[in-house]
Amino acid sequence: MADETVIHRGLDGVVVDSTRISKVMPEINSLVYFGYPVQELAEHCCFEEVAWLLWHGELPNAQQLAAFQADGRSRRHLSKELLAVIQKTPRTAHPMDLLRTAVSFLGMEDPAPDKEDAAANLDRAISMMAKIPIMLGSFYRVRKGLEIIPPRSDLSFAQNFFHICLGQAPPSEVVRAFEVSLILYAEHGFNASTFTARVVVSTLSDIYSGVTAGIGSLKGPLHGGANEEVMRMLLEIGEPARARDWMLTALREKRKIMGFGHRVYKKGDSRCPTMHKYARQMADLTGQKQWLEICDILAETMLKEKGIYPNLDFYSGPAYYLMGIDIDMFTPIFVMARITGWTAHIMEQLAANRLIRPLSHYTGPAERRVVPLVHRG
Ligand code: COA
Repeated sequence: MADETVIHRGLDGVVVDSTRISKVMPEINSLVYFGYPVQELAEHCCFEEVAWLLWHGELPNAQQLAAFQADGRSRRHLSKELLAVIQKTPRTAHPMDLLRTAVSFLGMEDPAPDKEDAAANLDRAISMMAKIPIMLGSFYRVRKGLEIIPPRSDLSFAQNFFHICLGQAPPSEVVRAFEVSLILYAEHGFNASTFTARVVVSTLSDIYSGVTAGIGSLKGPLHGGANEEVMRMLLEIGEPARARDWMLTALREKRKIMGFGHRVYKKGDSRCPTMHKYARQMADLTGQKQWLEICDILAETMLKEKGIYPNLDFYSGPAYYLMGIDIDMFTPIFVMARITGWTAHIMEQLAANRLIRPLSHYTGPAERRVVPLVHRG
């Protein structure tokens, strides 16, 4: 490779393929799924409508949605073998690790996981969307030493998740805010986990391997794991009066502040205004206003000092906390949503596949001869 090779570390600015699924437009602070602005989808649609859109490229009509919902709801169950795996999982395990294992197990239960036609993969995607919340809710109960609650097919996707975790549905405003977060999290172009999933299936590996790898990628705090870290940071700060000084100290110490910055958006994350609005509703509902007050001070200070804006995780973290959700469930909830985007991308990749295999610039030693072991000093 010539010395003048330009290296794009982190693939920054590199366009690797085309996609019809979503477009991030940082210059006008906009994100569209198949042309629809995400904030409009969040205000007018349920999560299942958005899942259908991502898989079919169009919003469903009422009949299509009803059939799709009935189909998804009929798949809300796990095999007794998978439930046994969940029951035997160490209670101290992070629920992301549980999901990574449980999705992989689901792949082993598929009698023909390598059957790569589009219809089979869509069917698997619908099943994963239905079953991932059940995996998560079951583990939530098991690790607290509580009985697993059977899912209900008369509840919406979001309602059922609260039901299997808590045994009851929270107020409708909470369910709606949760559903909005799922819609905002559903898809986001060639982000790290989606790209990971595409790389995996570009070898013609199976959809479960792609999703399992995506879960592993999402877990990192520079990606999905940030929503958990944001809440831990807010708890550490504790009260609005400490927020500004905390931020100034952290910046002086050159720390990475979770929930700020983005590879693509440099003038703000298009999903933030919607999530901020719903997080505020949760604060009003619970009367716990301090977390968003801290957020607002941190955002203002960061913008003034470094010109860096918050991202979606900055507001979803406190919103989930205010809904009463355990902090280590935040990134797994991101999986519940992003399974739709990942699988849409996996199917798009496979429809016009080319192996993803970039180059690297070698900086190791020049070529040399092997000295046999007996002669090595
Ligand atoms: N806190 C402090 N400084 C930050 C920052 C943050 N969260 N995000 C970016 N910066 C600064 C970097 O230090 C760097 O400054 P420098 O040029 O003086 O060295 C500059 O902004 C560019 O950041 P860089 O890390 O090169 O951007 P990136 O595109 O490689 O990384 C993220 C993007 C998202 C990984 C990064 O912003 C980050 O780590 N954010 C925190 C984790 C997070 O919230 N992740 C969720 C993303 S949706």
